[in-house]
Amino acid sequence: MITPHRPLAAGVVADHYQELDRLYREVWGEHVHHGLWRTGRESPLQAVEQLTAFVAEQAGVRPGDRVCDIGSGYGASARLVVKWFDAAVTALTIVPAQQAFAEATNPGATNPRYLLRDWLENDLPAGSFDAAYAIESTEHMLDKARAFSEAFRVLKPGGRFAICAWIAAERAKPWEKRNLLEPICREGRLPGMGTETDYRELLAAAGFEVEAAADVSREVRDTWAICVRRAIGRFFTDPAGRAYLLSTASRNSIFAVTLVRIWVAYRTGAMRYLVFRARRPG
Ligand SMILES: C[S@@+](CC[C@H](N)C(=O)[O-])C[C@H]1O[C@@H](n2cnc3c(N)ncnc32)[C@H](O)[C@@H]1O
Repeated sequence: MITPHRPLAAGVVADHYQELDRLYREVWGEHVHHGLWRTGRESPLQAVEQLTAFVAEQAGVRPGDRVCDIGSGYGASARLVVKWFDAAVTALTIVPAQQAFAEATNPGATNPRYLLRDWLENDLPAGSFDAAYAIESTEHMLDKARAFSEAFRVLKPGGRFAICAWIAAERAKPWEKRNLLEPICREGRLPGMGTETDYRELLAAAGFEVEAAADVSREVRDTWAICVRRAIGRFFTDPAGRAYLLSTASRNSIFAVTLVRIWVAYRTGAMRYLVFRARRPG
């Protein structure tokens, strides 16, 4: 497990997404996750929707299922799962701006149900979901063991669980840890970036059977070249964005540098992207 040199302060994850709310949506859109390029010809929007489709497939979502979206961002994947499967989706985020945005996409609607709530204290009933997925949210959780035991608890026996995770190479070189992985954790507000072995062990300890771990690093990594290009474009064309990045009062502007580190980390192999498929036995 790669961890920041100094433990992250409480609240920094929500603060990161709250402060970067506008930047995230302008640079990348409503899906705050990687795109998946199967042919290489997909548009960025097609690529992010393709990743959601892959996750839903890995989570075995079926028509009418009750589904939990753990760390749901702006709710874009949750809305697609409702649309594609007529599923009943509960979506949790800890970021007020994300929940407000999600609610505003269809005011008054109750599916998806958007909760502003910490997954580690989710208070959802046991055995209440057929499927659950976590797209790039478990990296942000300090207590991953609890994150997975909560997923196990809320799933019905036989329930399916898909997790997309930023993964550290098992044997990252010292310079990669020093210049890429540790700063990515610190600047990206990840209290821990696990290896594939870490995730497999944590899932198994929570009671899950891990059925697969698809390495789609090559199919997702173009995300960062696009983000870097768009961020540079905004720097030159958007005075407010430029002022934010240059202001010493900005707490999260360093993430512009992190984008480049992540791009490099995929190229060297220090960072991987895995989609785990797990099942609660029974
Ligand atoms: C990279 S974004 C991914 C968002 C969304 N899954 C998507 O793919 O668009 C990380 C998300 O994890 C959520 N998150 C992080 N820690 C969380 C926690 N303890 N409980 C609930 N959500 C959390 C954040 O609120 C944020 O929405």
